[in-house]
Amino acid sequence: MGNRRAFLRFIASSPLLAGIPSAVNALAQSDIDKAADALDVFDFEVAAKKVLPPAHWGYMATGVDGEETLNANREGFTRYQLRPRRFVDVSRIDMSLELFGTKLNSPIALCPVGSQRAFHNEGEVAAARAAQSKGNLQILSTQTSIAVEDVVRARGGPIWYQLYTTSDFDITTKLVKRAEAAGCTATAVTVDLPAGRNTSTMMRFQRADTRACGSCHSDATGNLANPRVGGGVSNTKPMFAGMNTQGLGLTSPSLTWDFIKRLKGVTKMKVVIKGLETREDAALAVEHGADGIIVSNHGGRATETGRGTIECVSEVVQAVRGRIPVIVDGGFRRGTDVYKALALGATAVGIGRPYIWGLSAFGQAGVERVIDILNNELRLAMVGCGARSLKEITSASIIDTGRRA
Ligand SMILES: Cc1cc2nc3c(=O)[nH]c(=O)nc-3n(C[C@H](O)[C@H](O)[C@H](O)COP(=O)(O)O)c2cc1C
Repeated sequence: MGNRRAFLRFIASSPLLAGIPSAVNALAQSDIDKAADALDVFDFEVAAKKVLPPAHWGYMATGVDGEETLNANREGFTRYQLRPRRFVDVSRIDMSLELFGTKLNSPIALCPVGSQRAFHNEGEVAAARAAQSKGNLQILSTQTSIAVEDVVRARGGPIWYQLYTTSDFDITTKLVKRAEAAGCTATAVTVDLPAGRNTSTMMRFQRADTRACGSCHSDATGNLANPRVGGGVSNTKPMFAGMNTQGLGLTSPSLTWDFIKRLKGVTKMKVVIKGLETREDAALAVEHGADGIIVSNHGGRATETGRGTIECVSEVVQAVRGRIPVIVDGGFRRGTDVYKALALGATAVGIGRPYIWGLSAFGQAGVERVIDILNNELRLAMVGCGARSLKEITSASIIDTGRRA
């Protein structure tokens, strides 16, 4: 490793690369041995790719169709620029917030990501311990690879439970009641995958993976990669253990807004809708009693809209008019991304892949470092722009140029 590092340093300082800063960055980013060495979250992307089998990497990294929406989630941020204010006393910065009565140390939540033991043996429990030590919100997937009770115990505080609606309300009710009994305080019902998706790039990674998957999960696709969301459900997943999942869909194409009322009828948890992108749906969500909204396109893994989620925030916030919290996820990789979302009126943001990169490479320590890096970048953005608390990040804090750079 020492020789390799020296070689990379030599290459990075070569005049041949002087005009190609991105190439220099890419080289620098491939060389971390421990979580503490990471300088930005992209260092973990490189580290994760090195340790993960191709099929698992493909499951996590890819989007749908030609990855246009996945890319738009990053490119969307370039529409917005920061407007710094000077001569503000920024010697104290407060990034905390309260969400449904729970105090959080920063507005960065860990999004639901299924099957986390495919990335690290300690899976969702490692993420929970990191969320606990940093004081951040964790949202646990229905497709969790570790039982909700164990994850709540590891978090030592409230988490949210992400709900796939399933195609059978009795089973949905059981999932929700189990999550509530385990101590979850809110359920985020994911509505952006009514019936399937086209995951062709992921399939290519699976084909490139020649290992026998049967020793870890029952087939090469279904239980891990779950390309048939809206299709089959496996009862090898802890949330479905002991259930007859024959013919059960993880989601259902026939659901309408009545579902929210039905769901509220069987749980005391707050009901948050994950996967809205328009003002029309935001208004309907409030009308139907939703307690919160997560603006999301499933990390570019659902419908190929071509629209970055950051570009959807304004219209949702305008329709909601402050009545319920609005969270947004998709492509958040920098503290300035978080700053932009808050300036557009979001209450908090979610990250998916970045903490999974950290988890894959270094377990709990990787997730903690990802949270630290993003917190630190957000703090610097707040210091640099003269915002001392999240409330001081307002619509005057950014400008929308109207087009992506
Ligand atoms: C590997 C992977 C698995 C995911 N599993 C779920 C899931 O089970 N439920 C869900 O609502 N969203 C799921 N998501 C979407 C995330 O919750 C989140 O919306 C998305 O990852 C945010 O985008 P980002 O990865 O660019 O940060 C998954 C995302 C990834 C990358």
